[in-house]
Amino acid sequence: MTEEILREIRALKKQRNAVILAHYYCSHEVQALADHVGDSFYLAKVAKGTDADVVVFCGVSFMGESAKLLNPDKIVLMPDPMADCAMAHMASVDQIREMRAAYPDLAVVCYINSTAELKSHSDVCVTSSNAVEIVKALPNQNIFFIPDENLGNFVKKQVPEKNVMVNHGFCPIHKAITVEQLVREKELHPHAKVLSHPECNSDILAFSDYVGSTADIIRYAKASDADAFIVCTEQGVAYPLQQDNPHKQFFFCHPTPCCADMKRNTPEKILEVLKTLKNSVQVPEHRKHSALRPLDRMLEVAK
Ligand code: 13P
Ligand code: SF4
Repeated sequence: MTEEILREIRALKKQRNAVILAHYYCSHEVQALADHVGDSFYLAKVAKGTDADVVVFCGVSFMGESAKLLNPDKIVLMPDPMADCAMAHMASVDQIREMRAAYPDLAVVCYINSTAELKSHSDVCVTSSNAVEIVKALPNQNIFFIPDENLGNFVKKQVPEKNVMVNHGFCPIHKAITVEQLVREKELHPHAKVLSHPECNSDILAFSDYVGSTADIIRYAKASDADAFIVCTEQGVAYPLQQDNPHKQFFFCHPTPCCADMKRNTPEKILEVLKTLKNSVQVPEHRKHSALRPLDRMLEVAK
């Protein structure tokens, strides 16, 4: 990224009263120029509270969509509208209808990594940093967790008093991390603590010293006395981890997990959308209310 691009971005941000949000899985260049960097929950809260007129969301489409739902009157721009999350599409409205028919008191708990259509048929959204807390707080006994099977099973384990039924979606990036890869890394760095995202398979989670969202992993590493960690999540977290802890070591399994969709966000594309206001996120009229309801409920319950 050239100094010239940075200068232009700064000037346009001022001119348009824009704010740049970036997920930890974006490249370090994008994280370095963003106003706010965080996990899905933090970014949803920032998007809800901002007084900017324009929000540039460096993430994937469900994040841009959520920001637009929370701010219907603001312009929300995606640097690359093709940046999508495969998992967000891995559940169906028909499945939800079948489950509701089978369990009259059902709560459909929807991981925020889902389309606006799935959200609009759900009772509450969650992210990986508040899923356990929100499922515990719901009055319902029967829970249908969509779309992520691994996060759903993690919640099920933490909330044994409820009947948590899981859908079979997955994150291809986290699912590809195997125990064999982790064992190899552990052999190379036997004293390193294993920190994992709950989108990983259950055998990885069982092997881990700590399981949490990206922000929780970053907080844990900073607070820990340990000086070496094997991190089972997307490689973008290496940037904040290294910045916060210059004297600690962070290792990743091989091949290093990389979400190509998150990496579609680049400084050049950020500049382009700030110049042209193209790639403005739109939510269909009939979803504006129904898909916002579970998001608002999440923000209320997890306050
Ligand atoms: P968090 O931001 O909740 O850690 O989730 C990770 C993720 O996969 C986002 O797409
Ligand atoms: Fe989706 Fe996985 Fe990429 Fe997150 S890392 S955006 S869950 S594909």
